[in-house]
Formats: sequence, structure tokens, C-alpha cells
Amino acid sequence: MAHDIPAVELAPGVNLPTIGFGTWQITGRSAYESARAALDAGYRHIDTATMYGNEEEIGRALRDSGLDRSDVFITTKLPPSHAGRERQTLDASLKALGVDFVDLWLIHWPPARGKSLPTWISFLEQRDAGRIRSAGVSNYDTALVDELTKETGETPVVNQVAWSPGQHEPQFLDDMRARRVVVEGYSSLKNTPLNDPALVGIAERHGVTVPQVVLRWQLHHDIVVIPKSTRPERMRENLSVLDFELTSEEIEAVSSV
Ligand SMILES: NC(=O)c1ccc[n+]([C@@H]2O[C@H](COP(=O)([O-])OP(=O)(O)OC[C@H]3O[C@@H](n4cnc5c(N)ncnc54)[C@H](OP(=O)(O)O)[C@@H]3O)[C@@H](O)[C@H]2O)c1
Repeated sequence: MAHDIPAVELAPGVNLPTIGFGTWQITGRSAYESARAALDAGYRHIDTATMYGNEEEIGRALRDSGLDRSDVFITTKLPPSHAGRERQTLDASLKALGVDFVDLWLIHWPPARGKSLPTWISFLEQRDAGRIRSAGVSNYDTALVDELTKETGETPVVNQVAWSPGQHEPQFLDDMRARRVVVEGYSSLKNTPLNDPALVGIAERHGVTVPQVVLRWQLHHDIVVIPKSTRPERMRENLSVLDFELTSEEIEAVSSV
């Protein structure tokens, strides 16, 4: 069943669904089955990385799902240790995924000092060659993002960073917004005490679960969510977070956990 998930436009015609499916630490048969189940549940955005070692299984799940390639947004990431081997790394990702392009390619982590800029230039070349539809970064602070912009005139369209009630920085969010960088937040469930009484109280008030409250809180801040689960019922739960609204007091309370 496909849900109506709002998307954010990264570039003309490049629309990133604001709820995606995370795939870190899922490999082999589990990666294939989880990706199939996620697509069946309605996810249309899958987050992977060279380092996750599951691109092949995700590509197979995508093909077997019967969905059109254009219906699913695929993100993958270049490991910082592959700086200088961007083209070969992308070749390998495209081959493993069995696709001609990815929708978003991220520098997974800032490469060693001095290597970030050449990697970014290479990303822009791959984008201009049509092998990636958009280029971004992950785990970059504001100064590092600005360095790329200053040198190339091109700002990463996405910055994927750790984000959870206990680990969020309003100033960083303001900085990214000012630069029109879309923030994706990872490990928000993993890094949250899901039995926290304040969170449990809010969840009970809305008749939802604590993970749903956390994901709703992230989306409220315009942060794209990419929860990972191997369980279909949790995949569906994590996708069903758009039919309730948190009050401003509740948003404050979640931010204070
Ligand atoms: N760019 C980076 O450096 C970076 C770093 C880390 C992660 N990521 C990306 O972000 C994605 C998400 O982060 P993450 O995988 O670290 O953590 P996460 O999605 O916050 O949490 C995953 C954990 O939460 C459990 N879970 C999921 N839904 C649940 C629910 N509704 N109720 C209770 N438990 C639930 C999962 O267990 P089950 O599987 O058993 O359900 C799993 O143990 C990753 O998969 C990856 O794609 C990127």
C-alpha cells in the first residue's frame, strides 16, 4: 500500500520523500527481505551506503517489487576512505544496485583534511554526467559545508546527521535552513530512551507509540526521517506518523528529553 508521503524538492524534478527507510546493519537475506517489505509497506525512499554492504540486495528488492525505478528515491554514500576513487566507487554502487543513476549521493563522512573539496568537485562532475541526480554530504558541520560552497559555488542539497531528542542543535538547523540544505536525521529511535515518561505520556495522549512521537517531532522541524527496522509491523508504524499533530508544548517537551 502506497502512502501519501510529502516530498521536498532538492532540485527541479528531484523530490525527496520526507520519510525514508534506513538500512544500516541489515545485510544478506535480511536486507533483501526488509527492503521488499519496506517497499510493500509504502516506502519510496531507501537509504543505503557503500559501507552497508547491502546495495546488491536492495537493488534486487527494487527490481522484484515491480515498482518503476522512477517511483523510488535511492540514496547511497561514498566512504571517506574512497576519496580520490569517486568514479570507481559510484560505478560499483550503480552496478550493485542495478540502476543507471542514484537520486542522491552523499559523502558519508568528511574525508581527511584537504580531501573534501576534490571529492565534492568529483560529485558535481558525476551529477553533471547524469549518474547522480543530486549531491550532498553527511556528518558535516556548518564550516565544512561553507567551505564547499565557497570553493565551487555549489552547496550540498542534503546534510545527513545524527538527530534525536537528546541530540539536536537548533542553531545548526537554522544554519542549514539559511543555506537551503535539507537536513536528514539518523538514529533518532536508537538514540532515544523509548520508555521516557514524558514521551510515553505524549504517545498515550495521541494513541500512538513513542517512536511515532519522535518521528513526528523530527518532521515538525522539517527534518527528513529514515528509520530502520527489520519488522514489517514497525515499518508500517514508522510510516504512519502524519495523521496526528503535536502541540507546541509537546514539541518543547520532546526537545527537552
Ligand atoms: N550517515 C551516517 O553516518 C549514518 C549513521 C547511522 C545511520 N544512518 C542511516 O540512518 C538510518 C537510521 O538510523 P539507525 O539504523 O542507526 O537507527 P534508528 O532507525 O533510529 O533505530 C533502529 C533501531 O530501532 C528499532 N526500531 C525501529 N522502529 C521501531 C519501532 N517502531 N519501535 C521500536 N523499535 C524500533 C530497530 O529494531 P528492529 O530492526 O528490530 O525493528 C533498530 O534496533 C540507518 O539505517 C542508516 O540508513 C546514517
